[in-house]
Amino acid sequence: MSDNLTKVFNWINHRLPVQNTFERHLSKHPVPKKVNFWYLFGALAAVVLVIQIVSGIWLIMLYSPGEGAFASIEYMMRDVDYGWLIRYMHTTGASMFFAVVYLHMFRGLLYGSYQKPRELVWIFGCTIYLAMMAEGFLGYVLPYGQMSYWGAQVIISLFGALPYIGESLELWMRGDYYISGITINRFFALHVVALPLVLIALVFLHLVALHEVGAGNPEGIDIEAHTDEDGVPLDSVPFFPYKVLNALVGIGVFLTVFTIIMFFFPEGGGYFIEYANYEEANPLVTPDHIAPVWYYSPYYSMLRAVPDKLGGFAVMGAAVAIFFVVPWLDKSKVASIRYKGVLSKIALVLFGISFLTLGYLGTVSVTEHRKTMSIICTFIYFGYFLLMPIYTSIEKTKPVPDRL
Ligand code: HEM
Repeated sequence: MSDNLTKVFNWINHRLPVQNTFERHLSKHPVPKKVNFWYLFGALAAVVLVIQIVSGIWLIMLYSPGEGAFASIEYMMRDVDYGWLIRYMHTTGASMFFAVVYLHMFRGLLYGSYQKPRELVWIFGCTIYLAMMAEGFLGYVLPYGQMSYWGAQVIISLFGALPYIGESLELWMRGDYYISGITINRFFALHVVALPLVLIALVFLHLVALHEVGAGNPEGIDIEAHTDEDGVPLDSVPFFPYKVLNALVGIGVFLTVFTIIMFFFPEGGGYFIEYANYEEANPLVTPDHIAPVWYYSPYYSMLRAVPDKLGGFAVMGAAVAIFFVVPWLDKSKVASIRYKGVLSKIALVLFGISFLTLGYLGTVSVTEHRKTMSIICTFIYFGYFLLMPIYTSIEKTKPVPDRL
């Protein structure tokens, strides 16, 4: 650096901890030397968050909330140069966001990443997931297509099932007697300002909490137990360049897949954008088959598995809420599935199968047989969590190696 540049840098550095923060959180931040494929999804989630924010800002320039929402989407798709690209970037990003976050959460369950001392990292993560669900729902209503309308109708009416306050709450949320331009305006405000701010703040806290305790690894070994004279874990490498270069390869592959979907299969066979959403919202015509986008469908199956609306809503809420207490349900002495007993392995496999099955069932119409399947899978889903204190404490675990 030339003398003048050094002077400017030092001037700033004495007033803002630039070098310190850079070294502590990037260049010198120690990360476990051995992690695997599953440890990539946090970085990918961060990449998609940026894609969503950038494409979202461009969408706002073309989209108009209110009664004209559907027309503004049609206009950007047909008449604005590359308007379709911006929109498909955002819709593909929504599905990819959930895909990578689901894999990221599964990694947490697989390797017990939520265990001490990472409970708060997990709790911030669960809150991010909750905020993402709200963000995705609000965004899906914005194009004011048939599925936007009827999907929102189903979800808002769930609040209407609450005793005493339900009806007023429903009206208050919509701001009108039906899902109108007024509703779209308020959903727009929440989708583009309020929730992104919450999400960014939560991701920041998630990462600060993670850097405070250090990243985990697939072996569940505490690398802080063996450090050199400077306190740096012996089984670690600096974040830069090792982790960064490693993640860049994964990010490259991911962006290739992302681009292929965006250019060639943006509707994802009706799973990423439902075909009914290419028609404008019509309060007088209910679509033949109302189904949520794939990332909500496991919960939608649970809702349909319970005959009572309020009960279904409560089960759905409990299915998400239960993630928050996982660090206290797992009583195992070991973190990673590699050293847990056979019961934990069976439970995780059954949980995975039930979650995927519920996901599939939520996208198809109900039959008696499918309803029975949903009920069974809902029981397995909750069984995984509620029986965790039992099977993790009675099973025999394998000894965990001392070093990574
Ligand atoms: C916008 C969404 C999210 C972003 C950008 C994000 C980002 C990250 C990043 C970059 C890491 C470190 C790298 C890695 O371990 O993969 C991480 C770790 C972690 N995340 Fe997330 N995350 C998100 C959502 C979630 C959710 C929804 C959960 C759980 C419910 C979660 C739980 C965790 C846990 C437990 C770790 C620590 C893993 C370990 O070190 O063993 N995260 N996250």
